[in-house]
Amino acid sequence: MIKKIMLVLLAALVVIQFIHPKKNKSEGPQPNYIGNVYAMPDDVKVILSKACNDCHSNNTRYPWYAMLQPVHWWMDKHVQDGKKHINYDEYTNRPLRYQYHKLEETIEMVKEGEMPLNSYTWIHKDAKLTEEEKAKLTGWAQSVMDTMKARYPIDSLVRKKN
Ligand code: HEC
Repeated sequence: MIKKIMLVLLAALVVIQFIHPKKNKSEGPQPNYIGNVYAMPDDVKVILSKACNDCHSNNTRYPWYAMLQPVHWWMDKHVQDGKKHINYDEYTNRPLRYQYHKLEETIEMVKEGEMPLNSYTWIHKDAKLTEEEKAKLTGWAQSVMDTMKARYPIDSLVRKKN
């Protein structure tokens, strides 16, 4: 009996190797990328691309072991979930209030060390942000918020409290 179950599981493991979700890849320029509208210094670009963009952009860098299932499904879940919450490549097409709020969230998540996810930095050691990198990233997010405040009336960025 045990042997039969093992064989079935093994067969299932072989079969799922051929089933893969669609990769998060989008070639070419990203028209709604946050950096198109708000200045993004190179060092911030580097931080976002090594620590955040795998889950919050339209392009994920897939390691070789993403070829293995169920690893790919597990990664895809994070990517889809991450993109749903915030996508820096699909940013400037969102309402101003949304954009402003997600910058606040970016600062909060980075300050509290909630992002990048622990399961990610466990493998991607270089994505574990130093205090200096955190300061650069949150400083940039704050500067974008300041630019928005200078460009738009505050009512269009923050819902008025009654
Ligand atoms: C391995 C994938 C992954 C990486 C890498 C990652 N995130 Fe996330 N992020 C998620 C997921 C999944 C969520 C949603 C669930 C949650 O909050 O845990 C999320 C949520 C967020 C949110 C909350 C948005 C909201 O208001 O709902 C922000 C902001 C954020 N991430 C910013 C970042 C930043 C900045 C980085 C890089 C420093 C980063 N993330 C790296 C997967 C990731």
